Amino acid sequence: MGWNSWNFFFEKVTDKDIRASADQIVATGMKDAGYVYVNIDDTWEGKRDANGLLHTNEKFPDMKALADYVHSKGLKIGIYSGPGPKTCAGFEGSLGHEEQDAKMYADWGIDYLKYDLCSFIPAVMMKQAPQDKAAQMRLMIAAYDKMAKALKATGRPIVFSLCQYGWDGVWEWAPALGGNLWRTTGDIDPHWDRIYAILSQQDGLAKYAGPGHWNDPDMLEVGNGKLSLAENRSHFSMWAMLAAPLLAGNDLPNMKPEINAILTNKDVIAIDQDPLGKQGTRAYSDGEVEVWTRHLAGGALAVAVLDAGDTRYSTHPFHLDLAKLGLHGPQQGKDLWAGKAITLTDRMPIEIGSHDILLVRIGAPK
Ligand code: GLA
Repeated sequence: MGWNSWNFFFEKVTDKDIRASADQIVATGMKDAGYVYVNIDDTWEGKRDANGLLHTNEKFPDMKALADYVHSKGLKIGIYSGPGPKTCAGFEGSLGHEEQDAKMYADWGIDYLKYDLCSFIPAVMMKQAPQDKAAQMRLMIAAYDKMAKALKATGRPIVFSLCQYGWDGVWEWAPALGGNLWRTTGDIDPHWDRIYAILSQQDGLAKYAGPGHWNDPDMLEVGNGKLSLAENRSHFSMWAMLAAPLLAGNDLPNMKPEINAILTNKDVIAIDQDPLGKQGTRAYSDGEVEVWTRHLAGGALAVAVLDAGDTRYSTHPFHLDLAKLGLHGPQQGKDLWAGKAITLTDRMPIEIGSHDILLVRIGAPK
């Protein structure tokens, strides 16, 4: 759990923004709720000197000092690079400098690396194996393996985040090379249709996730763009159901209280961080209403009923079919957004607003 600069600041992020965000993670209660990593995304990179050593650009005058500052708040710090000659935003990448860069991150005290494919595709994969997709994929995997080994060689524990948009069944090979999380799709943006499309693409990937190695449906957009409160709630709930890394991506110094309340809902975070580490799956759907379940430690179960559409009304409410969730008889639980007890009964009508969610924890208390 943590925060990343890209989804709000994009290429404008500065040292000052990172410090202010770290301050806010503490001040808003996010740190107490479990947010730990403060991750600098693309556009911190400057030029390499004659020895190949990469320098920061003028937005980040002293990375070691920044890392020390973030650490002084009891938080950890992440950084960004890629295996190609350039990053996605056209800054200096790590190609040919993997060991040198990894060592520099470790010297700075970096705790997390997001490694983004981008220019490696045209510069290496398509150039070295123009007609051979399988050979291109082998080059890609080797590039990630190379950085994984370089990170390990530093002796510093550094979380390794693969960002290559889910290519070539990354969930099948990333854990073996030491990947801690891997993006499963292209980029998120703060629109319901995109969030829902990404959610739909996660179905079937549950078996690849587990403690230490997670599917990453991309960073949170909670509080960004024009997402409604219902959409923010549903997005956060479903990422928790997916056992997704919870990396907030909003403007923390200007966060509204209702967004803060969503991001720090401890019951929902407990679903995400459940020690069993079992990702949720879609149990069934009825048109645009979907029911997802997630098995939790101690025999508990999280049930999410999501209205992804906008055409269900009280004339024909959704009826919950408990048998389809493997449940029989009334189920006592807690409605995690209302914060109160709820009993789920078979065929009970559930009215949910457009793009809103009912998230319930049933069974053994946490
Ligand atoms: C890619 C990644 C994003 C972000 C940008 C930065 O698009 O998928 O998450 O890191 O690059 O340039």
